Amino acid sequence: MKIKHTALPWDDTSRAALRSRLGEWFRAAGRDLPWRRTLDPYAVMVSEFMLQQTQVATVIDFFNRWMLRFPDFEALAAANEAEVLHAWQGLGYYSRARNLHRAAQRVVADHRGRLPADVALIGLLPGVGRYTAGAIGSFAFDLATPAVDANIARVLARLLDLQEPVDTARGQQILWAAAEGLLPGRRGREHTSALMELGALVCLPTRPRCAECPVREFCTAKNPELLPRKKPRRKAVPMLERCAWIVEDESILLEQQTGPRWRGLWKLPSLSEEQQGELLLETTYAFTHHRVTLQVYAGAAPGQVAGEQRWFSKGELPQAAFASAHGRALRVLADQTGFAVPGFLDASL
Ligand code: ADE
Repeated sequence: MKIKHTALPWDDTSRAALRSRLGEWFRAAGRDLPWRRTLDPYAVMVSEFMLQQTQVATVIDFFNRWMLRFPDFEALAAANEAEVLHAWQGLGYYSRARNLHRAAQRVVADHRGRLPADVALIGLLPGVGRYTAGAIGSFAFDLATPAVDANIARVLARLLDLQEPVDTARGQQILWAAAEGLLPGRRGREHTSALMELGALVCLPTRPRCAECPVREFCTAKNPELLPRKKPRRKAVPMLERCAWIVEDESILLEQQTGPRWRGLWKLPSLSEEQQGELLLETTYAFTHHRVTLQVYAGAAPGQVAGEQRWFSKGELPQAAFASAHGRALRVLADQTGFAVPGFLDASL
């Protein structure tokens, strides 16, 4: 697709003024976040993987714990996958953990444990898309390189009064070109952090705080709360997942997942359509465009344990990594039925 370059609605002087307002505001109002206190490329990369689908407030504790447990690329590369998944537990979207693990192994194998200061090379690592490569380039190496995440997309779409949906190839191309056009000549770290922080604290999705905005005089949005536009969403497809609660002799039967999305994670054992029992718990969760109803029924121990199933003693539960909806259901039922160990129940729901 050929896209005409969208000119920014500001001349060089205005762009410089916009950047300078943004920088001043960020130095005064930007949050003190643990990954902003470091230039260590590994720490920046870990934070970016965690922040891909999880909110800042949740990530802070996970990030601090992760850095103690796996302090550098070598430590992470040397860990086994079960340990990595377990440490990721609670953040969800485990493919991020697998990719981060593989990326660390590649950095050790191909770059002798040091991430290169080169966005194109960083972008070749597993799980590193265009945004993450740009974010690592600017936050860890202070490169003047664009990075457009959801916050920055919203800020730019409003500054430009962009009517194009931002989740299309064309919308993305416009946003990336705008981000590029707004970059300073050097020192990208503060600039990109400031744009992102403006989206997180001021240019909010539903109620933008335009009166407090340091760059409001540059903004061309007529109805900022209606931006950014997105293309119409597919309706969520309902799905039913039936599982069993099978406890015997102080042990619980669990099943390990084999599919690509949740491979290696533990869940309550599946129950076929015909199998019946008392309904103990019903909860719902979302994944991609599905809305899943998870039902847990009281079940009896099978005559024979299937290959991907095994019994867990209470004491072993804190060491297992669970698909998050199953982990939640398990904690609720363990609490209700007295099948509980403190180290397990205390983990965040
Ligand atoms: N979201 C993604 N990356 C971030 C960062 N470095 N700081 C705050 N929020 C973010």
